[in-house]
Amino acid sequence: GGIALTARASSGPDSSTQGTTGTGSSLVFDPDAHTTLTTSVTGTDGTTHSVTYRFWKAITYVARPVDETYQSLNVSVPVEIDGRAVDASDAPILFANSVGGYMPSSVAGATGIGGGGMGGGAPGGGAPSGTPSASASAAPSAPGANANTNATGGALATNQLLALAAGYVVVEPGARGRTLKDSAGEYYGVAPAAIVDLKAAVRYVRANRGRIPGNTDRIVSAGTSAGGALSSLLGASGDSALYEPYLKELGAADASDAVFAAGAWCPITDLEHADGAYEWNWGGNAVQSTGKTADRTVSQQLKAQFAEYQASLRLRGLNGFGPLTARNYDAYLLRQYLEPSATAYLAGLTDSGRAAYLAANSFLTWDGKKATFTWDGFLAHVGARKKTAPAFDAFDLSTGENNLFGAGTTPARHFTAYGAKNDTTGLSGRRVASDIPALLDLMNPMYHLLTERNPRRCKHWWIRLGTKDTDTSLTVSANLAAAAAGLGDDVNHLYYWDQGHGANTDPGDFIAWIAEVTG
Ligand code: DHB
Repeated sequence: GGIALTARASSGPDSSTQGTTGTGSSLVFDPDAHTTLTTSVTGTDGTTHSVTYRFWKAITYVARPVDETYQSLNVSVPVEIDGRAVDASDAPILFANSVGGYMPSSVAGATGIGGGGMGGGAPGGGAPSGTPSASASAAPSAPGANANTNATGGALATNQLLALAAGYVVVEPGARGRTLKDSAGEYYGVAPAAIVDLKAAVRYVRANRGRIPGNTDRIVSAGTSAGGALSSLLGASGDSALYEPYLKELGAADASDAVFAAGAWCPITDLEHADGAYEWNWGGNAVQSTGKTADRTVSQQLKAQFAEYQASLRLRGLNGFGPLTARNYDAYLLRQYLEPSATAYLAGLTDSGRAAYLAANSFLTWDGKKATFTWDGFLAHVGARKKTAPAFDAFDLSTGENNLFGAGTTPARHFTAYGAKNDTTGLSGRRVASDIPALLDLMNPMYHLLTERNPRRCKHWWIRLGTKDTDTSLTVSANLAAAAAGLGDDVNHLYYWDQGHGANTDPGDFIAWIAEVTG
C-alpha cells in the first residue's frame, strides 16, 4: 500500500486488496486499494496534459447491496499533473453519474476514469467508448455536428477527464436502472432505485471524509439526460426524509446525501408533466422524424394540460421577466435563451461562416450584434419532432418512462391520469396505481424545490440544453432554472445553439465554474 508519487508510475495494482468491499462489509474506504494510472487530457484550449492519478475501482457503496454490479463506484484522484505533484485532499469532488435512458449503469468494468457505463444504452445512445488512456478531446464541436450526442458517453467522460486535469477528485457511481429483473421476474431497478443508489453513493463518500481525498462539503453532481434528471434531483432533494426507508434497507452509510452543486445537461425530468410540455413546445410539428404523425386531438388535449400546469407553478422568469405562463413562454424562451444562444453562436463565427449561416437560415435576422427571430421561425428551423404523442406516458405502455414506473413483476405502468385513462393495454379502472403519486415525488426535483422548498438542496446550478433537443420540451430545464432561481439559488443556465440531445459544448466553462462556486 505504499504510495509512491513517481510519475507515470505503473499500470499494476499498488495493493492486493483492490476490488469490491464485498457483501455485508463495512463501508470504510481503503485508501491503499488503488492502482496508479496515467492519462493524457486535451483541454478546451487544445493543450494536452499528462495526469497521473490513483484509481479505486468497483467499491460497493451500501452494506446490503441488491446488485453490486451497479451499486458500486470508482474514485479517481490526481497526484501529478505535467510532472508536478498535486494535493487533492481538499479539492472539489465531481460526482459524475453516467446514467442514460434511466437504464442500469455500471462502472464495475471500467479500467480507468471515464470508462464506466456498461449497459448504458440511452435511446439513440449506446455503450460509451471512453477508454482511460485515450486523450479526451474537449474542444467544442461545431453546432449541427451533433458530436456529443451519446448521453452515456462522450460528454460526461469529457467532464471527468477535465476535472481530473484541473486537480479535482472524480467519483463515478453506478446505479440500478429500469430494465433490471431478478430470477423471480421482479423489476429491482425501477423508480426510485437510481436516485436512492446515487444518494447512497454520496453518503458513502461523505462518511469516508478524510479517507477519500477531497472536500465532501464541495460535492458537485453531474449527469446528462436521464442522468441530468437524476443529477438535478440529487441537487434538489438533499437529505429529504422521503428516501430514508429505501436508504436504510440498503444499509447506506449514515451521513448526509446533500450535494453542494448540480450540473444537469438536457435533464429529462418533471416526467408527469412532460407530455403536456412536449405538445406545447413541439406539437405544431405533427410529423415525427420517423415519418409517423402524432395524433392531433391528443396533442391539443395535452397542450391544454400544460397551460394549467404552468400557471399552477407560479414561477417567474429570470431577469425580471415576470410570471411564466403557457401564453408568454415562447417569448420568454426567445428572449432569455434562444436569441442569446444564436447571438453567441453567430458572434463566434468568421465573417464568411456567419454569412453562409445567415444565407442558409433566413428565419434569422442578424443586425451585426444580435440575432432575432420568431418562435414559429425557430420551430420550423428545428423541424420534425422526435417523439409521438404522448411522448412519455404512452397509451400502450411502450416508453422507457412507462418501464421506469414499473413495479414488482409488472414491467411498465402509467404515471399520468391521462395516460391511464387512454390506456390501450386493458388496464382495469384506467387509473394510475395508488403508489404512483409518491413515486413521482421521489423522482421529480420540482417537488423538492417548489413543494418541499427543501432547505438542504444545493444552491448552485449549472443547466445546459441544446436548442435542437426534442427529447423533451425546452420548458423543462427553464422551469427547473426558474424554480431554483426563485428560491434565491445561483443558476447558470444556457442553451447551446443548434445542438441536439446530449450536447456539452462548454465543458471547460463547467470546470471553471466549479472552481468559482466552490472556491
Ligand atoms: C433519455 C432520453 C429520452 O428521450 C428519454 O425519454 C429518457 C432518457 C436519455 O438519453 O437518457
